[in-house]
Amino acid sequence: MNNVENSGSVTWKAPSNIAIVKYWGKHGTQLPNNPSLSLTLNEAFTSTSIDYEIKNQPGLELDFYFEGVENVEFRNRIFKYLEIITPHLPWLKFAKLTVRSTNSFPHSSGIASSASAMAALSMCLVDIAELVGQEIKDKTRLQSYLARLGSGSACRSIFPHAAIWGQCKGIPHSSDDYAIGFENLHPVFKTYRNDILIVSSEKKSVSSSIGHDLMNNNNYATARYENARQNAEKLYQIMSQGDLQEFIQIAESEALQLHALMMCSSPSFILLEPNSIAIIKKIRAFREESYVPICFTIDAGPNIHVLYPQEYAVVCQEFINHELKAFCEQERVIKDYVGEGPKKLI
Ligand code: PMV
Repeated sequence: MNNVENSGSVTWKAPSNIAIVKYWGKHGTQLPNNPSLSLTLNEAFTSTSIDYEIKNQPGLELDFYFEGVENVEFRNRIFKYLEIITPHLPWLKFAKLTVRSTNSFPHSSGIASSASAMAALSMCLVDIAELVGQEIKDKTRLQSYLARLGSGSACRSIFPHAAIWGQCKGIPHSSDDYAIGFENLHPVFKTYRNDILIVSSEKKSVSSSIGHDLMNNNNYATARYENARQNAEKLYQIMSQGDLQEFIQIAESEALQLHALMMCSSPSFILLEPNSIAIIKKIRAFREESYVPICFTIDAGPNIHVLYPQEYAVVCQEFINHELKAFCEQERVIKDYVGEGPKKLI
């Protein structure tokens, strides 16, 4: 236990990620019912700093500030999370933590922040673990594992460019417990663009935890999990080879399946807005007439993520400005692209 630092401070920023094969349905402690595969984003991120002190007396103490303001609701949620992960970080029992967190994207943008938030938090916690003398065998694995316990999809935000989460026969080293990086990703995906068209910034009417639960009684669940498994295996090959036509086919099918599953759940949810559909149709029509490999994916909400290779950025952005922006709330578009994963700031 050399060089143990019983107080100090760490800061990380961690990005959000967008799933191409979607995680929808879980069991046990945040374990996925099917494998998922995502692109790591760059511009939508959370920065988190933790001041820590290890006390002589047991009893976890936590203060939490979001965007500079003390936030008791978030504090209580994180306190519960820290209690859950204490078996993995035993020093937490003696810790006094002050956590400060900010998002790069507006709170009211309709973009979920749990993936970036839980990834940034877990990066900080694993650093502190090392500083206070905890022996860690595989740092990346622990970072992803702890992020997963906070929010499933967060475990994929730890890696540069792309990540895979969930055990899958055709994908070596894949696991339900943590995500892995995409080792032999084709270079075209390392600079892929993702423009988020904000159709509505209203809080979504179904939280992802309720959404996952709805899969337990969904008549199509078994077929869905099998199809997601096949899509993950296929996409893994496709994204190694850089086959854009095949990528587009799976990306759009996965996005629409996610929404189809919500529509045929009980209770049923329709999260797409008329403008979401209008954008989807425009993207497909433009692709057919121009042969530009542009496509979309969608999260559990009405906003449309437009995906295209960096080399088509000029023509795609012109198309978005002229044809799609009008369908967005106050013409809002958040421009993002595939990035290098979390970064230590201090
Ligand atoms: O990580 P959660 O529990 O917020 O679930 C995320 C679910 C989707 O965003 C819809 C899909 C995914 O794989 O990210």
